[in-house]
Amino acid sequence: MALDIAYRVQEPLTLDEALSLGDANLKGLEREQERENAAHILAGLYANRDFLADAAIDALKLTYADETQGRRKYGPQVITLGAARPGWFLRANIWPGVNDYAVRASGKDAFFYGLPHDHNFDFLTIGYHGPGYISDYYEQDYEAIIGYKGEPAGLRFIERSALFEGRMLYYRKHRDVHCQHAPDALSISLNIMMTAPEQYWFDQCRYDVKRNVVETILSQGANEAMLHIAVAACDENGRDLATEILWNHPSQRMQLAALQALSENSLSQMEKDKLLDQCRRHGSAAIAAAASLYINQHEQ
Ligand SMILES: [Fe+2]
Repeated sequence: MALDIAYRVQEPLTLDEALSLGDANLKGLEREQERENAAHILAGLYANRDFLADAAIDALKLTYADETQGRRKYGPQVITLGAARPGWFLRANIWPGVNDYAVRASGKDAFFYGLPHDHNFDFLTIGYHGPGYISDYYEQDYEAIIGYKGEPAGLRFIERSALFEGRMLYYRKHRDVHCQHAPDALSISLNIMMTAPEQYWFDQCRYDVKRNVVETILSQGANEAMLHIAVAACDENGRDLATEILWNHPSQRMQLAALQALSENSLSQMEKDKLLDQCRRHGSAAIAAAASLYINQHEQ
């Protein structure tokens, strides 16, 4: 599961000090020294019990134009703290309590409660206020997962626990899966989020933990969406391009997107059956497995 991170209690940091420290030291979270640098930043912000209220007021004062210029974004659940940096950014997450009006009015899905998922980025988090959201924690073997709907996920349940005040956790990309539940009372966490251009080529998945399968792919690249549009338009060029991608694109994810686009927009059942049968002999074991699954689903 996400790793508990021990840290020293320390003097408070202002938000500007935390951002400056990150600019100087924050390179990643995978190495122990990198996590120590990041933990120092979050621990310093945790010790500062005033900065978040000021940041929230600042955020509320900003206009929509400011947001679109990337200066600061806020929504009902997230306050971005300072501008995004190359490779990382800081944010606060607000987790409404189970009996709060926001949850009753908008539903749990609106706050990502009850939706098991992994992450295609590393992040470090600390419980800043309140009892903290509750999570069911799982681990997965990402290398063994292709990322198609209905695929066995092999999730291993680890524990259920809360991100209580002062608890710091390191979530490992593609490995730690969790299903969050509303806390007993409104809670706030602070996050250091790592970003990388290549993360958009890797899936973030949602899971059905009862069946232990991949339920859907949450992350969609622009190319994948355009591929679906091109094929759905029934233009012969679009279908030719998708077929080329299906058999020859270096990215398995794009191949899988092409298979989905072509199979979901086949002109006839016979054409779809032929495509899936051909793909069972695809050079990529992942595409072959996905094609077999689609055939099995159709036959059931
Ligand atoms: Fe998450």
